[in-house]
Amino acid sequence: MVSFVKYNWVPCLLFLLITVVAGKDIFSFEQKNNPVSEEWQAPDLNSVPYDAEGNAIRYGKELIVNTAWYFGPKGKIAAITNGMNCQNCHIEAGTKPFGNCFSAVASIYPTFRPRSGIVESIEFRINDCMQRSLNGKPIDSTSKEMQAMVAYLKWLGKNVPHGNKPIGAGTKDLAYLPRAADPVKGKLVYDATCQKCHGLNGEGQMEWDSTGYIYPPLWGEHSYNTGAGLFRISKLAGFIKCNMPYGITYKEPKLTDEEAWDVAAYIALQARPDIKFPQDWPDIKKKSIDHPFGPYADSFSELQHKYGPFAPIAAAK
Ligand code: HEC
Ligand code: HEC
Repeated sequence: MVSFVKYNWVPCLLFLLITVVAGKDIFSFEQKNNPVSEEWQAPDLNSVPYDAEGNAIRYGKELIVNTAWYFGPKGKIAAITNGMNCQNCHIEAGTKPFGNCFSAVASIYPTFRPRSGIVESIEFRINDCMQRSLNGKPIDSTSKEMQAMVAYLKWLGKNVPHGNKPIGAGTKDLAYLPRAADPVKGKLVYDATCQKCHGLNGEGQMEWDSTGYIYPPLWGEHSYNTGAGLFRISKLAGFIKCNMPYGITYKEPKLTDEEAWDVAAYIALQARPDIKFPQDWPDIKKKSIDHPFGPYADSFSELQHKYGPFAPIAAAK
């Protein structure tokens, strides 16, 4: 009797353990952070009629996929960008969940953005990427090309209710590391996983006729500039985790969060066009935590704002 009382916690504990372990699979506790049930689907381009509006939508997609052909260094319309395509960062023409996905553009814009401090139109936002991500010049907002890209983005998000952001819009926010992201560890990730496509020096690889890239550059003179969204390592790490090495999806990532942060730090350390946008962040209190240029409303250094650790900065905010 004494011995039974003494050991009856053993079956209890076993039962508890089994419930927790099995319950995890049966009730999918973990899916709460990552709900996939209502994933957004891009509408079907084949259903778009061949009228003026339909042709604008198709041309808009074409410009986003083959931007360099029209606006690159050998651009057919104007030579005003670095030779990258919008699609290099907005994967599958902006339809891939967490691939800088465009699903919430039509439903959210026009919207106030703290970087500019104004209510931005879709045209304004596209020209932002022209000047920063494509390190180029803006295009006329009334041009056929701008109107076509806007038509494509509005069509893409037409089924998303106003003000809504579907799961998978934009990029994924990764949890902060408890330490600063480490470029030295990041180089190991780069050499093992990224270099074979993006090159020894992050220079990417051109098409044979140099009209665009097979593998886009990650740094150097032909890459995005220091004013671009991807120069913030939270954006870059989130993008890499869900999209690289090329071909993976956010549901089956190859890199751990640590590897994604570290390789992002390594890329952010390299040289790229240094362009300042002095009109950015008119209210410095609203600056993103990982915006790598001061002045700041807090006393953390530029270095910490660039590589972290970010949790203390977030806590101070
Ligand atoms: C080097 C990568 C890169 C390239 C190339 C690029 N973008 Fe972007 N774009 C981004 C990132 C990163 C963001 C999100 C930035 C943020 O959240 O601050 C973004 C945001 C946007 C948004 C707003 C999306 C939203 O949900 O708020 C639009 C619209 C957009 N880009 C259009 C374009 C177009 C059109 C082109 C080509 C002319 C282009 N981008 C080229 C990286 C890029
Ligand atoms: C199999 C080849 C391949 C590998 C490996 C690969 N990438 Fe890419 N990467 C691409 C391609 C292709 C694109 C452009 C996607 C498109 O245009 O559809 C791209 C785009 C990018 C972009 C956005 C565009 C730019 O030039 O800034 C980043 C950032 C990036 N890759 C980072 C990485 C990192 C970091 C790794 C390693 C963890 C990696 N990639 C591994 C092929 C690859």
